Order: sequence, then C-alpha cells, then structure tokens
Amino acid sequence: MNQVRQCVETYQPKFFLLVSEFNNPTGYSISLTYKQKLLQLAEAHDFYILEDDAYALLSYDEPPPPSIKSFDRHEHVIYVNSFSKILLPGLRIGYVILPLQLREQFLANRRAIDACGQPLTERALASYLRTGRLKDHLKRANGVYRQRRDALMQALADYMPPGVTWTHPAGGFSSWVKLPEDKLIEIYQASLEAGIGFTPGKGFCVYEKSRHLRLSFSMQPPGEIREIVRLLALIIREHLTGQTSHAS
Ligand SMILES: Cc1ncc(COP(=O)(O)O)c(C=O)c1O
Repeated sequence: MNQVRQCVETYQPKFFLLVSEFNNPTGYSISLTYKQKLLQLAEAHDFYILEDDAYALLSYDEPPPPSIKSFDRHEHVIYVNSFSKILLPGLRIGYVILPLQLREQFLANRRAIDACGQPLTERALASYLRTGRLKDHLKRANGVYRQRRDALMQALADYMPPGVTWTHPAGGFSSWVKLPEDKLIEIYQASLEAGIGFTPGKGFCVYEKSRHLRLSFSMQPPGEIREIVRLLALIIREHLTGQTSHAS
C-alpha cells in the first residue's frame, strides 16, 4: 500500500486501473482491507479507480467477494465487467457502473465509437439473462474450472523442478509461474516446438523484466492439463542450469 501511496503522491493520477479479483495474469486478489484503503486513497487524492471485475464471479473456494464499487459512497469507482469470461469467450459484451458525474460524457463517447454495439447479440444475451439461468450456469462452470485449477496445482507440485514457484488462484483462469533463472525465451521457444503454448510474462509487464509464465487452465480437461505440465516441466528442467531431465 505504501508503494501505491507514494506513486499516487508522485504522479497525481487521474485514474488507477486494477483487476482486484483473480487477476489476469497473476491469479492474485487483493484483500477487503486493501480495497477499502485504496478507495480512501482515491477519495483523498480525488482520482478514479477503474475496477475491472471480469473474473470475480469465477470464484472456486468461497462465494464471490465484494467489489470496491460496493463501498463507493462518493462516486470514485468506475466498475466494468464482461460476459466473455463467465458465459461465452469472445462475446465481448460487458457493462459499466459509472459515477454519476461521468455518465453523460461516457454515453456520448460510447455512441461516437460504434453507434450502438451489437444489437442482435445484446438482445440474445438480455433474453438469456432474463431466464435467470446464469446462476446455474456459473455453478456448473465453476465446478469444472475448480477441477482444472486443482489439476494444474497438483501437476505443478508433482512435476516442476526445485526453484520454480507459482501462485494458487482461488478463482479466475491463470496461475503465474516464476522461473528461478531468466531462461524464459529459450523455454518459450522449446515449448512451442513441443506444441505447448503459454503467454510469457513479458507481455504483461511494461517496465520490468519478467521471468514468469502465465499458465491458463480454463480450456483443457484435468488429464490433459496434467500431461501438458509434465512435458513443460521437462522442458523447464532441461533449460535450468544444473537440472537434468528425467524424461519418461
Ligand atoms: C481482466 C480482463 N478484463 C477484460 C477482458 C476482456 O473482456 P472482453 O472480452 O469483454 O473485451 C479480459 C480478457 O482477457 C481480461 O483479462
């Protein structure tokens, strides 16, 4: 929090963007206390928090946590969410809850961008939402994703060589895996050659060098996840100094 406070004091930002729950790519969430402190900071320094909550409903261990927006009594939070993650990948329909003072300007800009979005898919989504079936869908989907998350965690624990660490996401789609040495490019190339894709951490970092891999667990069933991690761990082992492969 001190670092954030310092940044705010130095740069006097107009807004602060964060994915507070099950962050993409890290899988991290911030605590309730942190959310409240951040909101106090926004109020004290008069900036907006742009809260992207796209993963909050994909919560596998506990009910979805409250958003920062739910504490926002003084209109400092712009809340955005998407149906792409919880319903249909690529749907690209979302919603925004705006501070009153931004509404008119936002609507004017929104209209200027593409006039009116995608009327047919928006209507189809609206009628689906009216059926009330989203809740059941989420229950089912979260059960499936929980199994995939668990498979990934188990496989990482079983196969990764010493020194490799990773986050344990309580929701969302990603775990952030850290290598003990900067061998990311070689490992990425070798993985692609073996037919394994992941997103190198570099793609998410503006300033820092990254030794991270973002592993997403949303697409493959548990057995496949386990096998992919086994192969990836062999590749990582081969590229880390002093680690010999135990290929089988
Ligand atoms: C945090 C976050 N917000 C939003 C999106 C994209 O949402 P949409 O498909 O509605 O543009 C993504 C996609 O990866 C995401 O990770």
